Amino acid sequence: MAAKFSSSPPVRSSVAILPAAMAIRLLGPADEEAYEAHLRRLSTHDRSLRFCGGDIPATSPLRRDTACLLIGAFVEETLRAVAELHLIPAASRPTGEAAFSVEGGLQGRGIGRMLFTRTLERARDLRLSRVVLICEARNAPMIHLAQEFGARTSYEDGEVTGTIELPAQPASENILRNVVMSIAHPRLALAV
Ligand SMILES: CC(C)(COP(=O)(O)OP(=O)(O)OC[C@H]1O[C@@H](n2cnc3c(N)ncnc32)[C@H](O)[C@@H]1OP(=O)(O)O)[C@@H](O)C(=O)NCCC(=O)NCCS
Repeated sequence: MAAKFSSSPPVRSSVAILPAAMAIRLLGPADEEAYEAHLRRLSTHDRSLRFCGGDIPATSPLRRDTACLLIGAFVEETLRAVAELHLIPAASRPTGEAAFSVEGGLQGRGIGRMLFTRTLERARDLRLSRVVLICEARNAPMIHLAQEFGARTSYEDGEVTGTIELPAQPASENILRNVVMSIAHPRLALAV
């Protein structure tokens, strides 16, 4: 039985300082260039971790005709981190696959955790019942974060699949939580 995603984010085990001038918002087609530039700025190592040993796909998800939602973190107007939530149409239950990328100089400051929280909130808004995440078995920070958000993890062929079960919840609760988040994080220009 997979663990359930709790309504409040996990307690941090260390103190991270989010960048002072950071804005969070959904990305759209107009952000395609910024998105690709962000991926290109990732180190070879991080790009490999992001794409499980592969490289940047030829076509961006912002252009592909697939259902996905991208949340971007902008630091001083430059897109520095992205959370992706791709809907998996063939799944037996409403399922999304999440992926994250935070540029090297900004890792370890809580941005990945914050984007993870937002991604699960959006997944619940979309009435998904499950979010999966696939990463390489050597990706300790990603596995650590996934487990903190209640993921059940399974290992196969050097890859880890994390599965987070989402309890159903009325949309009004999400709206209320976002208002609270905006107040708790006044630096965030736009709560998504
Ligand atoms: C994985 C990634 C998204 C995390 O983003 P981030 O902004 O650095 O994450 P955070 O700072 O919010 O949290 C990192 C957590 O990992 C922990 N961590 C770091 N190194 C670790 C290690 N070697 N082992 C276990 N945990 C580790 C940190 O302590 C922190 O946990 P805490 O908040 O409980 O202290 C980022 O490292 C990244 O973009 N990596 C390259 C691309 C990638 O791997 N994407 C994931 C595949 S989809």
